[in-house]
Amino acid sequence: MFSLDGKVAVITGAASGLGKATALRFARAGAKVVLADITDAKEVAVEAGGIYVKTDVSQEEEVKELMQAAVSEYGKLTTVVNNAGIGGQMGTLDSITREGIDEALDINFKGVLWGIKHAAPLIADGGSIMNTASYAGLFGTPTYGCYVASKAAIIAITKTAALELAPRGIRVNCICPGTADTPMAYIEGAEVELKLACMLQPLGRLVQPEEVAALYHFLASDDCAMVTGLAIPIDGGMTAGPGLGVIGPLYEKIFSESLDIEDFKAEG
Ligand SMILES: NC(=O)c1ccc[n+]([C@@H]2O[C@H](COP(=O)([O-])OP(=O)(O)OC[C@H]3O[C@@H](n4cnc5c(N)ncnc54)[C@H](O)[C@@H]3O)[C@@H](O)[C@H]2O)c1
Repeated sequence: MFSLDGKVAVITGAASGLGKATALRFARAGAKVVLADITDAKEVAVEAGGIYVKTDVSQEEEVKELMQAAVSEYGKLTTVVNNAGIGGQMGTLDSITREGIDEALDINFKGVLWGIKHAAPLIADGGSIMNTASYAGLFGTPTYGCYVASKAAIIAITKTAALELAPRGIRVNCICPGTADTPMAYIEGAEVELKLACMLQPLGRLVQPEEVAALYHFLASDDCAMVTGLAIPIDGGMTAGPGLGVIGPLYEKIFSESLDIEDFKAEG
């Protein structure tokens, strides 16, 4: 059940956080793993019994060589997790610079695009390509303009790739994590957003990397053979709607201030 025996998986962003947890879980489930990251992931690769290939996912040629390295080392490619990413420039839209948006699109979006493009000719028919988007690709998120644009683009390209690769039985899905307990969530200057995110996730806590790895494990397995083209939230219920942490204080305000509905009607 959910065995990954016989799979050869490339995971980008595998030095840390979600990618690291996914690489280790895939290895435990029987897959051969190729860990890619711009940061050294040799130790994680040893722990997973796999190999590390230094890769900057924003560089198309490096991503192409990464996919080829998997085939050279293990004789095939069956599974890809395009996961590497950055938080990038923060600030309201009036402060976005060309460098900020280019960086987010080059790493977060094009990193995934090159991953799909160069996996496609090599990956076995029936394979699984998975991409890490974010809840921020589904919602507007003030001050995260560069990030949300890059993540929404991942969702769009995932669906397009799923349609183009379906004739070969290759499935393409992306996941949309809520705020997860990884180094990315603790960037300086985003402490308030972190606490806010915990309150917005109705299950009331951060997503754990192992929980994301478990979802990727299912999507990678042959048990999931009819699932493609999806953007799957893993966010403690946040996309279901505003939870009690959000609604509760509003109810209190309504009862304590006896709001008049006339104030909310359009004038004229
Ligand atoms: N942590 C969260 O709250 C959260 C929420 C939603 C989505 N995500 C997404 O999950 C993915 C993984 O992030 P994480 O939370 O594990 O963060 P993380 O910072 O722990 O890991 C990100 C990894 O990506 C690598 N990386 C960065 N730029 C790269 C590049 N150009 N080429 C290759 N590797 C590069 C980093 O070296 C790092 O190891 C990202 O795409 C992120 O946007 C994270």
